[in-house]
Amino acid sequence: MADLTRARAEAHDNADPLRALRGRFVLEGEGDNRIYLDGNSLGRLPREAASRLAERTAEWGERLVTGWPDWIELPTRVGDLLAEGVLGARPGEVLVCDSTTVNLYKLAHAALAARPDRRAVVADPDDFPTDRYVLEGVCAARGVELRWEAPGGPIASDVALVALSHVSYRSGALADMAAITEAAHRSGALALWDVSHSAGAVPVELEATGADLAVGCTYKYLNAGPGSPAFLYVRSPLLEELRSPIQGWFGRRDQFRMGPRYEPADGIERFHAGTPSILGLAAVEAGVALVAEAGIERLREKSVALTELIVDLHDARLAPLGFELGTPRDPTRRGSHVALRHADAWRITRALIERARVIPDFRGPDSVRLGVPPLYTRFVDVWDAVDRLARLLEAGEHLEFGAELSRVT
Ligand SMILES: Cc1ncc(COP(=O)(O)O)c(C=O)c1O
Repeated sequence: MADLTRARAEAHDNADPLRALRGRFVLEGEGDNRIYLDGNSLGRLPREAASRLAERTAEWGERLVTGWPDWIELPTRVGDLLAEGVLGARPGEVLVCDSTTVNLYKLAHAALAARPDRRAVVADPDDFPTDRYVLEGVCAARGVELRWEAPGGPIASDVALVALSHVSYRSGALADMAAITEAAHRSGALALWDVSHSAGAVPVELEATGADLAVGCTYKYLNAGPGSPAFLYVRSPLLEELRSPIQGWFGRRDQFRMGPRYEPADGIERFHAGTPSILGLAAVEAGVALVAEAGIERLREKSVALTELIVDLHDARLAPLGFELGTPRDPTRRGSHVALRHADAWRITRALIERARVIPDFRGPDSVRLGVPPLYTRFVDVWDAVDRLARLLEAGEHLEFGAELSRVT
């Protein structure tokens, strides 16, 4: 039986090799005892990101358009940092641009165009909405069947593309990227992974797993801020074969020659659409550097210990109050958040935020998600949050809240 005292959580924090990194983040709000467990939605602000943003803004003011010769390399330069420090990819395979949604559209389209003799896409019916919607649209546009299948099953020989999330946004389940990619390849399909919920928290290993394509956001575990630019990955042998369906000028070879017709640039830059967000890239650069400095293996180790503590505390204190674990118990099969299922999940989420100063989020129909980004989450944060949650339920405080959903949950 694990020692589930607060003192033990404190001891864990004292022994944490990543402990000092918490101080590299802006921690306003902690003064009045707030516990932030939603970094899986929007990561905290790194101090370096704030100063990089201020520097870039000053550069904009001073240099105006003469800044572009330097700025224009940022999407690939920061892409290379991500490739090496976070994604297990090679230089020249990652581009920071656009949103995850747009990048998914570009890559899914490109993959289907490259496999014209195949008639289907396999996707997870429980995937994040934007993934499902984009794939629906791309399949309809290309006249291809969209098959909703739970990850891990056999893949038919007419499938062009398997498109899945590495970590499930709702349950936190971690898919076996290597095994699923291998199964896709055995049937001649390409594998496209959305790594939004793993990049920065779980080793992604795009090269080692054989993944063909990937997309992901930078505002969760990479802490680059609300609406920060996303990234896309294309395995280098595929680069020449694949073309973006958005033929924007930034993706054209020699874009400033302003040529008459579109010709794709060599390399990953062909997946650019329009002008990249240079201010956004400043924050991505800082966020990625912090993750790389911590080391993805050390982050993973701490993340597993943090989610393990949630699971143990759930069993001891929350299961008797009607909660059910919505996340795999096997730590090798989950990412860095835990879903706690309860029929009153939405009212509990509201009560946690408004009465207990704990910030999780709600994902329907019945999950309270607790995210524990290892760069800045402490073991005592987890202990205190579960303690407050249990007390709130014991007192029935959540019953004082209405069940109607707000626009943002
Ligand atoms: C798996 C996954 N993909 C995509 C997104 C969001 O995409 P976008 O940044 O384009 O809004 C999220 C947001 O939480 C997500 O969890």
